[in-house]
Amino acid sequence: MPLPVDMESWVEGKLAELTLEEKALMLSGVDVWRTYPVPRLGIPQLKTSDGPVGIRGGTMVDGTTAAMAPSAVSLAATWDTDIISQLGSLLATEMRDKKADILLAPTVCLHRSPLGGRNFESFSGDDPFLGGKLAAAYINAVQEHGIATTIKHFAANDQETGRFVVNQIMSERCLRELHLVPFQIAIRDANPWCIMASYSKINGVYASNNKKLLTDILRKEWGFDGMVMSDWFGVNSIVPSVDAGMDLEMPGPARKRGKNLSDAVKKGFMEEKTLDACVRRILQLIHKTGKYKYPDWVEEQEEAHDRPEHRQFLREAAADGIVLLKNEGDILPLTASKLDGIKQIAFIGPNADESVAAGGGSAALNPHYRQKPYQQFKANIASPHPDLVVKHARGCLANKFVPVFSEVCVSPKNGMHGMHMEYFGNMEHKGQVVHSAHRISTILSCYDNLPKSFTPGKRYSYRATGLLTPKTTGKHMFSMGTCGPGRMLLDGKEIINIWNRTKESERSEMFMAYASPEKRVEIDMVGGRTYTVEVEGVSRELDPIPVHYTDELYRDEVMDGSRVGFMEEVKENLFGDAVALAAESDIVVMVVGKNIEWESEAYDMKSMDLPGAQNELIQEVLKVNPNTIIVNQSGSPISMPWLAAAPTVVQAWYQGQELGNALFDVLVGAVNPSGKLPVTFPKRLEDTPCFHNFPGENDTVVYGEGIYLGYRHYEKAKIAPLFPFGHGLSYTTFRYSNVRVSSSLFSPDSPLVVSVDITNTGSLSGKESVQFYVSQTTKPGLPRPIKELKGFAKVSLQPGETKTACYTLDKYALGYFNDRKMLWVVDENAEFAVHAAASSVDVRGHAVFRVAKGLSWIV
Ligand code: BGC
Repeated sequence: MPLPVDMESWVEGKLAELTLEEKALMLSGVDVWRTYPVPRLGIPQLKTSDGPVGIRGGTMVDGTTAAMAPSAVSLAATWDTDIISQLGSLLATEMRDKKADILLAPTVCLHRSPLGGRNFESFSGDDPFLGGKLAAAYINAVQEHGIATTIKHFAANDQETGRFVVNQIMSERCLRELHLVPFQIAIRDANPWCIMASYSKINGVYASNNKKLLTDILRKEWGFDGMVMSDWFGVNSIVPSVDAGMDLEMPGPARKRGKNLSDAVKKGFMEEKTLDACVRRILQLIHKTGKYKYPDWVEEQEEAHDRPEHRQFLREAAADGIVLLKNEGDILPLTASKLDGIKQIAFIGPNADESVAAGGGSAALNPHYRQKPYQQFKANIASPHPDLVVKHARGCLANKFVPVFSEVCVSPKNGMHGMHMEYFGNMEHKGQVVHSAHRISTILSCYDNLPKSFTPGKRYSYRATGLLTPKTTGKHMFSMGTCGPGRMLLDGKEIINIWNRTKESERSEMFMAYASPEKRVEIDMVGGRTYTVEVEGVSRELDPIPVHYTDELYRDEVMDGSRVGFMEEVKENLFGDAVALAAESDIVVMVVGKNIEWESEAYDMKSMDLPGAQNELIQEVLKVNPNTIIVNQSGSPISMPWLAAAPTVVQAWYQGQELGNALFDVLVGAVNPSGKLPVTFPKRLEDTPCFHNFPGENDTVVYGEGIYLGYRHYEKAKIAPLFPFGHGLSYTTFRYSNVRVSSSLFSPDSPLVVSVDITNTGSLSGKESVQFYVSQTTKPGLPRPIKELKGFAKVSLQPGETKTACYTLDKYALGYFNDRKMLWVVDENAEFAVHAAASSVDVRGHAVFRVAKGLSWIV
């Protein structure tokens, strides 16, 4: 029988046939990543996958490999919607590989503090306009291929500390003019099919129960017609979340909903039509993805394809996000003639010979391959400069936890790097093995990889076994953190015991902040000898969910497992050796920064300082060799106490699988850097807008900075940042001239175009990101930031060439939110200046215009 293609008739037809119980079940996932199918009616399931910069697929740790793009903060630093659109197509292709339908991305919450653990993952930086526009490009490009996107986390998920409970207190203007803006722009420009609610409370109400956010603003004001899903385990009620417009509880199987919801209807706590509204939106989503055409659809195996064209694109995208912060002393670029004149380059720093490719948490994935800056530079430079010596010294350690150790450990079953993991259907590791698997990483997660019979709450045990061969003899270190009770054995002898763990036991930041504090032990070991390592654990005890139909409920989650680490004794003088190498080299490239353990979902950072002895190392290296290039890998601003002495500083973010090639291209000048900061780099944490209000106390955080976030704050408070928002140098120079507007009178019916001529005045071709900031020059009805970003354009220029950069300012560029009227307004007869700028503090010219007489309207 031919299927009806019309969405409404398909959706309404299915809705009419579904029983109340089936409808209730459809409002939760069926498992960790999939929606609930109803095969009886030919309603297929949809599969979700995390992003935002790669498609991880249906396994959180050790999944099938995937292309890994640069972190979102780096993509934001490109200021290039074309790159974001190309990335969208790549992601859509990889979504097909992973047999997934709903991409859980993009992330757009603002970088409120440099300490925000998830800053690296967000496209917004400290400006909502930039994030909103980039997110719109992303969403359009992915959805064009019939793949749903999920803009997240609605709203203001800008801190990880206490994320499941924290109450974020903010003014209406702060909410409307900053934190909702990226979502509002993306919904206006791109219409994402899904949105994910955040975990926390906004002004006292959990986002997942928040009718004002999910229905009044999102659907009624903005006209959003897609589906709202919870963040994972983020539904905090039975009836109120459905009432608020929260369509889908994720993950499944249902914890709060399911039978509770059908019972709630039967007992009169909720009308069936309220539930129907949510089911309807889930059915509409199934239709939009085209999945409705496959009533008997059976999910296929995930695939991994490392495509050459993706490699090439990711290399370019990564290089384009790298920001040249400072370039004095003619060190960069390392042109062929400069390299011909030198003998030795040293790569120094804890990240130099590591693949620091991404931040941690749900945005992390298993990349198709990994590159290391030192190795890649050495490999790439070998053929053009065969006589150049490239050496490496680590300098210091910068790990937060004892590192995972698959490199020196193999499974006894198959000899492959990693461990062999077995699951038992009891708490005693007894009897038949219910399920076994090879685990590549020693992050032994028990989450989306459990046998089906292990339903949430069922207690089970697991054992992972590996054969570990240390490279050296010495006092080596083992570590463990575990969610439930756990212990570690070496050659059958217990070396770590965390067996007394209960529900109430202390948690640390380890394992997405679900695990115990890390326990460490030192053991004398012989290099080259093989030892048997066993890790035993028991699943956590879960609390039953109380059935209070109309109350707020606590959060629960079923994430479980252990993380074990191993590190050989460091006998060398890391610091001294590195300084000596720096002294004997012609040029030093220091690759410093943070990594996946310091910057991650689930916790915030404690400091802007580089971890370990990196600052001291940089200082000492600069003393012995001023020809030093500092390359920093981090997703957030760091403090730079050595900046005055450092001639050259490069911000390299986390660049995904092509990090080595991208950095190489920028260092040697194959790519002229054009990245610009999407976030202000402050001099010190004390200067930041929320210094006194981050991360709050007693589970409450006050957004005391109001509408003055990022450059809005630094400009108003006259605080000079270390590097301003929008800053980024090039190997060439650009002149800005002739800033103009298409009309001196703004009317909403004929949007106004601002233009500026950009000339490449240097000797290399390059790209320039031009920023347009709008200021109200007549007194506004309410205080406003001095200027706000309302447009940007990237131009590519040959030496001597001039091009015009322009942007169309629409009515949304002018208004502010009047919280007495609860409306967006533009002041009557207001006058504005639009500035063409190379950064938020480097304004190169402006043009003025005013709004038509008597104009004051809702935008
Ligand atoms: C994160 C989301 C993510 C989800 C699924 C949550 O912990 O906050 O961003 O999409 O997990 O992995």
